[in-house]
Amino acid sequence: MDDSPIKFEIIHIDKYTGARRGRIITKHGIVETPVFMPVGTNATVKTLTNSLLNDINTEIILANAFHLYLKPGLEVLEHFQGLHNFMNWEKPILTDSGGFQVFSLPNTRLSDEKVIFKSPLDGSQIELTPEKSLDIQKVIGSDIAMVLDVCINSLSGYDAVKDSVQKTFNWALRSKRYHNNNGQALFGIVQGGLFEDLRNLSLSQITSLDFDGYALGGLAVGEKYQDSEKILKAFGNKLPENKPRYIMGIGSPTMMFLSVENGMDMFDCVLPTRMGRHGTALTWKGKLNLKSSQVKFDQKPIDEECDCYTCKNHSRGYIHHLFKKDEVLGKILLSIHNLRFNISLVEKMREAIENDDFKFLKEEFFNSSTYSLT
Ligand code: GUN
Ligand code: ZN
Repeated sequence: MDDSPIKFEIIHIDKYTGARRGRIITKHGIVETPVFMPVGTNATVKTLTNSLLNDINTEIILANAFHLYLKPGLEVLEHFQGLHNFMNWEKPILTDSGGFQVFSLPNTRLSDEKVIFKSPLDGSQIELTPEKSLDIQKVIGSDIAMVLDVCINSLSGYDAVKDSVQKTFNWALRSKRYHNNNGQALFGIVQGGLFEDLRNLSLSQITSLDFDGYALGGLAVGEKYQDSEKILKAFGNKLPENKPRYIMGIGSPTMMFLSVENGMDMFDCVLPTRMGRHGTALTWKGKLNLKSSQVKFDQKPIDEECDCYTCKNHSRGYIHHLFKKDEVLGKILLSIHNLRFNISLVEKMREAIENDDFKFLKEEFFNSSTYSLT
């Protein structure tokens, strides 16, 4: 019996690659895949209102158990009856478990049972267990929760990665046992760093448990492009076919093409908003630095092909001025544009997959832009 709180349908698989066109059905709406999920760590996708998110066709956002537990805290989230209500966001939400964030802090201590870290807010000691992460995500009320995993640096040595794979499996088992399908889907996370045998082990361990979807973790944490490519090529299409496949923390155009080509369905990344706040635009021709004096007198939009509010209303020269004066509107306008760029990229991918044209889209994209496939 399939009693999963989400349904996943595959609409079409590209004839010449592993690219999949699918659909995730949740109680807060439908998510077409491949999908890019804007990151809303602190219950806000930085600088965008909900109506701006809707304008650029956002279908699902990502939030973070770790950050929301620290602030505003569970009492507030409970009082507001979950994150959808708190931020008045009506579409689906996926929450990360905290695995990634906790392991990026200094002085994090790990045991078989739990992970102990120092609160970046007040230095107090906080414990996180797989069960506690699920409790937090339940209060948040996300449509898709992630298991707490052990995400160590992918450049770590073999023994350390092996240990993280074992703990990740034990924690996934505990999560699976603890999770009480309260209308919330639960995804497992495959670790294993850059070691193919450990990736294999983690993949068979995690997929032996019946999760509602599966993620590849431990990538885009400082490794070379060729290394992530090797892992994606070897393991993307080994994840169960009938469930959504999520590659965590990926969102550059290059990595999204590589991921979709190898059968992945979901991505998230802070890159578009972070780059936007720092003055760099993603365009169909490549990156564009709006802080550069080269665009001071430029009356063209950031990208003539883009349908976003920013490109329909403002010039490069105006946005340049806003950045020179450090006006907050500059950050808003570039964040809108960059997120729309990533979302229209996955929209183009969907169309191409439906027409068995994914390879052609990829070639065209890299031939007509300065993004590189390395
Ligand atoms: N975000 C990016 N990579 C990871 C990962 O490996 N685990 C988790 N939980 N979140 C991530
Ligand atoms: Zn635009």
